[in-house]
Amino acid sequence: MSKPKVVVTRRWPAEVEAKLKELYDVTLNESDVPMTADALKLALQTADALLPTVTDPITADILRVPNKRARIIGNFGVGYNNIDVASAKEEGLVVTNTPGVLTDCTADIAMLLLLMSARRASEGERLVRSGQWKGWCPTQLLGQKVTGKTLGLIGFGRIAQATARKAHHGFGMKILFYTPRNAPAQDIVDDVQATRCATLEELLSQADFVSLHCPGSTENRHLINEQRLKAMRPSAHLINTARGDVVDNQALYKALKKGWIAGAGLDVYEGEPAVYPGFLELDNIALLPHLGSASEETRIAMGNRVLENIAAFFAGKEPGDRVA
Ligand code: DGY
Repeated sequence: MSKPKVVVTRRWPAEVEAKLKELYDVTLNESDVPMTADALKLALQTADALLPTVTDPITADILRVPNKRARIIGNFGVGYNNIDVASAKEEGLVVTNTPGVLTDCTADIAMLLLLMSARRASEGERLVRSGQWKGWCPTQLLGQKVTGKTLGLIGFGRIAQATARKAHHGFGMKILFYTPRNAPAQDIVDDVQATRCATLEELLSQADFVSLHCPGSTENRHLINEQRLKAMRPSAHLINTARGDVVDNQALYKALKKGWIAGAGLDVYEGEPAVYPGFLELDNIALLPHLGSASEETRIAMGNRVLENIAAFFAGKEPGDRVA
């Protein structure tokens, strides 16, 4: 029997590409730049599985291409807002993602940004690199203490809970969370007592750090807008490792410029890799290039998870991480 044909839209860690090649007839995108809509359509027409990632918008138009051969889309990533899941369903395509394996790494980046923002690390690094640092000074680059402060988590899924653990066990932080979905049965996660806020506004007004962990979706687009930024404390920091469009860029720029909040740390951007130009002028924002899951171990684990999902599918079984 011939091997199923799969198209991978970006380069993966060598170890997982090698496994993929053993099992499947693989077409790799050697150029490692996002494929065009036409190339994605062709992939759906010529391969049994398309393996895209966060940089590939798999739109309704692409999914509705006629004469499709593909039956499964195995997304390399936990967030799958790049895929029009409703259209995929209508077109009879199975969609899977890679939950669980990037939880800790993404929570690490949330903590990193929290610390960078609180302790003005980006400013400090720029100062040293500029050659302008004149030495230790009692009043230079004074940030805010993190230990014992209050962290407000918006969304309370795996990554938020891992962030709660790190913040509480590592820094003695008090944990608040807000989620519009059904709350966990208890608010204690690995002996961290987390207090659920009834409203988003309640959380925003009490937290010293607000960290976003909700999915990118139509409902969550610009969830953090001008009004909500004004509801935060002037000493507070906003951290986003979720999806860029959860935050209204223009409103965040105003909030940072006018001092409605003290700082921000971003790993994700609306329309990335474009970055809102105003952010580049500001000192009180730490900017990372979507590094949440960027560790060797995690990217290998993500690839393996895609492999498990498509292997189950081609064996006629239910893939473990089916989202449509
Ligand atoms: C995801 O998996 O959703 C990240 O944004 C990329 O790893």
